[in-house]
Amino acid sequence: MVQDMINKVALVTGGGSGIGRATALAFARKGARVVVSDVSDQGGQGTVALIREAGGEAAYVRCDVSQASQVENLIKTTVETYGRLDYAANNAGINGEVSGVVTCTEENWEQVIAIDLKGVWLCMKYEIPEMLKVKGGAIVNTSSMNGVIAPGTPAYMAAKAGVIGLTKSAAAEFARKKIRVNAVCPGVIQTPMMAASVADVEQYMQQLTARIPMRELGCPEHVADTIAWLCSDEAAYVTGVAMPVDGGLLIL
Ligand SMILES: NC(=O)c1ccc[n+]([C@@H]2O[C@H](COP(=O)([O-])OP(=O)(O)OC[C@H]3O[C@@H](n4cnc5c(N)ncnc54)[C@H](O)[C@@H]3O)[C@@H](O)[C@H]2O)c1
Repeated sequence: MVQDMINKVALVTGGGSGIGRATALAFARKGARVVVSDVSDQGGQGTVALIREAGGEAAYVRCDVSQASQVENLIKTTVETYGRLDYAANNAGINGEVSGVVTCTEENWEQVIAIDLKGVWLCMKYEIPEMLKVKGGAIVNTSSMNGVIAPGTPAYMAAKAGVIGLTKSAAAEFARKKIRVNAVCPGVIQTPMMAASVADVEQYMQQLTARIPMRELGCPEHVADTIAWLCSDEAAYVTGVAMPVDGGLLIL
């Protein structure tokens, strides 16, 4: 990987596991100093340890992305620690309970929307002013194939579709200020979240694999490398897209 992010600072929410951990490692391989944020101290500190073992620079900051004061503190601490903010992967998310429109509880609805949708907005609300100070930046928000197609639980689908709208809104507003805002729509990626969402993982994976045009499940690095590329100067003219990373699932 080209070290084209030296002297830059990257932030990853939900960086303690799965796609977020792989994204933090990808930013570090590109030479960025990385702030890893999560609600799991063990996960977040584990990612920081992996980056340091590989010779990179990283710090952990605990933050629940659904809480404005914690997000404000996260961005403040990032800038106090490393002096600036150039890239952000707003990736933290949960599946919520498996439910339908009728069976979804108000509590589940509010929790999923608070973390998966409001959390992304809160992060951008505090990240963008710091990017304006350094006259540019790049943000990638994690949506999902379930932001585009069913089946998916209603709160999760609504949140992930909302992330695409929010991404386009921010991209349009800040394009002239050289802040690019894109989203990724992962397909079926093998992470702890995926494993936790079904009872019989083996059977579920076989069924899903058969539906994927490339006939293989995704790994966190597939999504991480796409996020890092979207943030890099190689994607300098790309903004406002919701890019599938799904082995072709959304073609069908
Ligand atoms: N795995 C997939 O197949 C898949 C597919 C599409 C989209 N996604 C999305 O990718 C993102 C990452 O998912 P993953 O599969 O790596 O999951 P994961 O469970 O492995 O990682 C998610 C991380 O987010 C953290 N987190 C949860 N709630 C948080 C909160 N309130 N504030 C801060 N951090 C919080 C968790 O502690 C965890 O470390 C999510 O937004 C998810 O919706 C995943």
